[in-house]
Amino acid sequence: MMGAMTESDAPAPQPHRRRPRYRGTHPRRFEEKYKEHAPELYPGLVEHVRERGMTPAGQHVSIMTDEVLEVLAPRPGERVVDATLGFGGHARSLLARVRPGGVLLGLDTDALELPRTEERLRKAGFGAEELLVRRTNFAGLRAAQYEVGWVEGADVVFADLGLSSMQIDDPARGFTFKFEGPLDMRMNRSRGPTAAEWLERATVDELACVLSENADEPRAERLARALDARRGRMKTTRDLAETVQAALSGRLGDDEVESSVRRVFQAIRIAVNDELGALDALLRQLPEALRSGGRVAILSFHSGEDRRVKHAFRAGLDSAVYAEISDEVLRPSAAERRSNPRSAPAKLRWARRA
Ligand SMILES: C[S@@+](CC[C@H](N)C(=O)[O-])C[C@H]1O[C@@H](n2cnc3c(N)ncnc32)[C@H](O)[C@@H]1O
Repeated sequence: MMGAMTESDAPAPQPHRRRPRYRGTHPRRFEEKYKEHAPELYPGLVEHVRERGMTPAGQHVSIMTDEVLEVLAPRPGERVVDATLGFGGHARSLLARVRPGGVLLGLDTDALELPRTEERLRKAGFGAEELLVRRTNFAGLRAAQYEVGWVEGADVVFADLGLSSMQIDDPARGFTFKFEGPLDMRMNRSRGPTAAEWLERATVDELACVLSENADEPRAERLARALDARRGRMKTTRDLAETVQAALSGRLGDDEVESSVRRVFQAIRIAVNDELGALDALLRQLPEALRSGGRVAILSFHSGEDRRVKHAFRAGLDSAVYAEISDEVLRPSAAERRSNPRSAPAKLRWARRA
């Protein structure tokens, strides 16, 4: 019988394995932070990690939540799209404001984290009548709205761009130069080339353009040539980081080299996931995706994203699609930047549909 599992295909029972011990008093590796991965068993631990300005492993600290709620002003009974559900932090706050009677449609492209987030939110008491979850790229926002019957759009749309801390901190995803891991970088691991495959195919001009456009890398051409010279031989995050370090060391200080490594990772990740293409598609659909008087807020994390949001909102104001837009970009408070350094680059803009 096709697809049915017989006794012989069933996985053999796994022998019990002891948790590997880590050296020293503080676990450094993501997998060793077993207490942070099971916060319900270790009360107080998450607060302790947060007090030290860090993000507990397997979690994400939501950014500018008060400001997001203020500009979106969600009201009971309203329909909200959270286009980037992530850990579900903003979604919880938005849901609390639209109760009773409101519904939140949460989207995310990440098939690994999304079921964990949905399970967490369901356990926290958000039932199917008020929380709808769909795994999809927000480039398909209108299709997702149609699928749940929101033909005339939503009252609120929110997007918090980029990666969650769960994605960044997991070495197996290959997003960070801080840990050795496969050079993957795909948010949706069922589609598209990995970063290693992308690097094998990109031309030198394309590499230089991506480094410059996606991360404002000042040494884009030199680094593009260095990446080209190691074509086909970069399989891990360490291979990529070492290629950049070797191209720059001796000419720059350690901090500057590290900043370049960070920018190269960011630029390639944005290209691999076509993040700017998805953002353009979202911005194009917003006028239709919002009901009259509906509000949108977008949190962005680098200049290429913010520029696109700013221009789309200004063009919408000029053509009277939007009745009002943010005059200035909003930034996290000094206190938030101190308590969550990952919030530092955040920029928030909003618009209200005419
Ligand atoms: C910064 S996190 C969101 C965190 C969330 N606001 C919270 O409070 O937990 C960004 C999330 O958006 C998702 N994402 C990024 N680009 C996306 C896209 N084009 N379509 C759908 N999801 C996307 C990522 O997979 C990630 O889970």
